[in-house]
Amino acid sequence: MAVFAVVGAGLSGMTLARELEQAGHRCQVFEKSRGRGGRLATRRRDGWQADHGAQYFTVRDPAFQQEVDRWVAEGWVAPWPVAPVVLNGDGVQSSPDEQTRYVGTPTMNAMVQGLSEGLDLFVQTRVDRLERVGKQWRLWDDQGEQYGQFDAVLLTAPLAQSLALLPPGSNLEVPLRGTTAMLPCWALAITFSEPTGIEADAAFVKTGVVNWLARDSSKPGRAAEPETWVAHFTAQWSANHLDASDSLLEQQCLAALRRLGQPELPAVSDRFKHRWLYARSGTETRLDAAFDTNLAIGLAGDWTQGDRLEGAWRSGHRLAKTLIEQWA
Ligand code: NAI
Repeated sequence: MAVFAVVGAGLSGMTLARELEQAGHRCQVFEKSRGRGGRLATRRRDGWQADHGAQYFTVRDPAFQQEVDRWVAEGWVAPWPVAPVVLNGDGVQSSPDEQTRYVGTPTMNAMVQGLSEGLDLFVQTRVDRLERVGKQWRLWDDQGEQYGQFDAVLLTAPLAQSLALLPPGSNLEVPLRGTTAMLPCWALAITFSEPTGIEADAAFVKTGVVNWLARDSSKPGRAAEPETWVAHFTAQWSANHLDASDSLLEQQCLAALRRLGQPELPAVSDRFKHRWLYARSGTETRLDAAFDTNLAIGLAGDWTQGDRLEGAWRSGHRLAKTLIEQWA
């Protein structure tokens, strides 16, 4: 039996920790924020809620489909019967497809919560430093607390944060050279005092500063009222407006919503914004062999597999398989 430290309690970290524990190993998971799920995030407000991070996920890999079927059976996720339209310079275009789009129920991180049941999790614990002691690792948090010892450390935070912890001389650094920083994304959630009358439940927005609009209250497991919308802003606009005010974001969001065919919108009754500094990677990174055997350091995360939720799961699943073989 080996003892592993997993840094990050998002989907990749929790998939990894769960599979390692199932194979008889022990894991301690360290998470800098208060909750689990990373960018799978839902905020609860007075009488409403909205998903401000990942909006939905799709499945391409049959192995991942098997896992998602299990999540559906557990009640952690459900298909969102949505037909996003395309909004471009010519207006609203319908754009039907066969894609099943899933969401967590009743909150986006429900499957991460389910996977983490019974795991040894330290929240509000920011790992600051790794120390090699013989063939083992010790960790330190930013309060000077020490944890360990561990047979391996598995970094599952976004690229920039994982790189900051990666010890010098690791062969994992090589494939990461030339990758750019991750890109930001502003999110705004608003709720209306009355129904808007907008027909579409979601839109891929191709022109302007908003690139995605979704009626969050149309997702399964959410209250249909009050009507709630989420807007995501382009990486470029987000990067140029890192200090955007609530009112600027709301103005832009309402302008985009009006283009969906309702020039007169009811009053906004509440809103919140969230700035994701590490929403997605700037370059395509593929890291298949993400374990440095000499240093006993591993990497996982959606960014190692191309930014989609499926990539987060695959990276955690693959790294678990490598480690289980190594410590067989
Ligand atoms: P997917 O298969 O629904 O869509 C991928 C992309 O293809 C969409 O962004 C859209 O531009 C286009 N597309 C898909 N279906 C379309 C249709 N019926 N008509 C016209 N265009 C269509 O989802 P996938 O590949 O699983 O990606 C997940 C989603 O999350 C994507 O929309 C992606 O852009 C988004 N994402 C957003 C991030 C952010 O920071 N806002 C970060 C990472 C992913």
